[in-house]
Amino acid sequence: MSSTDPIDADILNEAGRRRTFAIISHPDAGKTTLTEKFLLYGGALGSEAGTVKARSGRRSATSDWMEMEQQRGISITSTVLQFPYRDHVVNLLDTPGHRDFSEDTYRVLAAADAAIMVLDAAKGIEPQTLKLFEVCRDREIPILSFINKWDRPGLQPLELLDDIEKQLSLTPTPLSWPVGGDSEFRGVLDQRSGDFVRFTRTARGATMAPEEVVEPERAKEEEGELYEQAVEELGLLEAVGAEYDEDTFLAGITTPVFFGSALTNFGVRLLLDAVVDLTPPPQPKEDAAGETRELDSPFSGFVFKVQANMDKSHRDRTAFFRVCSGRFERGMVVTHEATGKPMATKYVHTAFGTDRETLDEAFPGDIVGLVNANDVRIGDTLWESKQVEFPAIPAFAPAHFAIARVTDTSRFKQFRNGVSQLDEEGVVQVLRDPDIGDQAPILAAVGPMQFEVATHRLENEFGAPIELSITNYKVARVTDEASAADLRAMQGVDVLQRSDGTRLALFESPYWLDRLLGERPELVLEKLVAEGG
Ligand code: G4P
Repeated sequence: MSSTDPIDADILNEAGRRRTFAIISHPDAGKTTLTEKFLLYGGALGSEAGTVKARSGRRSATSDWMEMEQQRGISITSTVLQFPYRDHVVNLLDTPGHRDFSEDTYRVLAAADAAIMVLDAAKGIEPQTLKLFEVCRDREIPILSFINKWDRPGLQPLELLDDIEKQLSLTPTPLSWPVGGDSEFRGVLDQRSGDFVRFTRTARGATMAPEEVVEPERAKEEEGELYEQAVEELGLLEAVGAEYDEDTFLAGITTPVFFGSALTNFGVRLLLDAVVDLTPPPQPKEDAAGETRELDSPFSGFVFKVQANMDKSHRDRTAFFRVCSGRFERGMVVTHEATGKPMATKYVHTAFGTDRETLDEAFPGDIVGLVNANDVRIGDTLWESKQVEFPAIPAFAPAHFAIARVTDTSRFKQFRNGVSQLDEEGVVQVLRDPDIGDQAPILAAVGPMQFEVATHRLENEFGAPIELSITNYKVARVTDEASAADLRAMQGVDVLQRSDGTRLALFESPYWLDRLLGERPELVLEKLVAEGG
């Protein structure tokens, strides 16, 4: 059946099997371990995981993947992993763990239908979790919470729920409840089935944890006080109405909570079952004009990430898009909406758990990496047969601004190319004074670590070492041409342009901005996403 048929049952069926989600967590809470265990339960690592784990210090998410690749001989991109689970296809998107990269997370979440928030049982909500959670809230996606490391001493389960409620204003609705904890972690009460599920540790957590479903009477007899305490705590929660509710979960008002230990595999299957059973399959996407692109319409895709030089030896540039409608087939000629040009799609790939594979076809919810798509930018739409344009991804409000200058002027060309590449990838936002041009652009960032990445990449990938001078600007607002002249005449204010043409007014003093908003309401000074976050 071709994708232009009015109702393509195959496409709807395939879309309905997809679950596309991201994991967010504070560094060290266990995102990498959980990802690995998902692969184990998805059968993508064979029957053993975690046999080699020589880890040292902290690494970025990307090097996590690279390290995993080396250690396991598996190849995965830093962007997405796809694996089968039950009769579903799971797409797991990788997000950076540091708040300074929350804009990147925001873009990745544009391609996700749900998120799992991983918390460390001993720490509860940590600063990065808070920031990343706010990004999820902005994106309005449902969140499952996994309280990890229950095999170690931690906070009380009720304390953790309280923390979620108070710090995130999100109502926790436990779907599993721990029986025991620390070295006495026995298992969980599974709220959905009403059973007690007892786990058994395996050596190094390398294979799936055997599970035994135990009847309440026998559980009471065998586990005694630990079991009774868990039942009592759950009873308390039911009394205050903390029960799972699909509508409020999907609306991002409540979060189902699961307890477990990724290291020992306790609770991993229950969590993965919940991803499949509770999180929504891909939905039709609204286009820029507010029309709905139905899932079984001809192919359309939405670019949410661009990454150059993932493979240093190839100097490639990959644009990742999520399939929004229809069936994508390799070799298909698609239209790049931003330029109106046709594009061949010969070189595409995805990561199927154990391999980065050339991809032959993909369905709504799937992520495709398009190699050497040089004109394609973040936020762009690709389509076939029937035109569509999806809304762009709004940019974050930068809070750090630095002037970049190349230290060796003979490298200016490399500098200019590098800066525009980093701009396209969204590593930093690049602001220019139209009169000065590319000589000394201002790099704008949500967090200062973005500058470190930009500096490192300019020097190492583009051979253009730079010097950064931090400016006094603290806050940016979107303005227009008419307001720009007035704003430029003021002290401590400058107006610069992004490569997409947007004018940004930069202010040294947030106080001055506040005053202007009150005194000069005719000036256009619009907020960007997640300002002040
Ligand atoms: P991240 O990606 O969120 O940064 O976290 P990662 O999975 O790398 O886990 C951070 C540390 O926490 C690792 O220890 C990992 O083994 C440990 N960990 C993850 N899940 C659990 C759990 O359920 N229980 C316990 N007890 N520990 C857990 P590490 O010392 O950095 O490395 P390793 O040498 O133990 O592998």
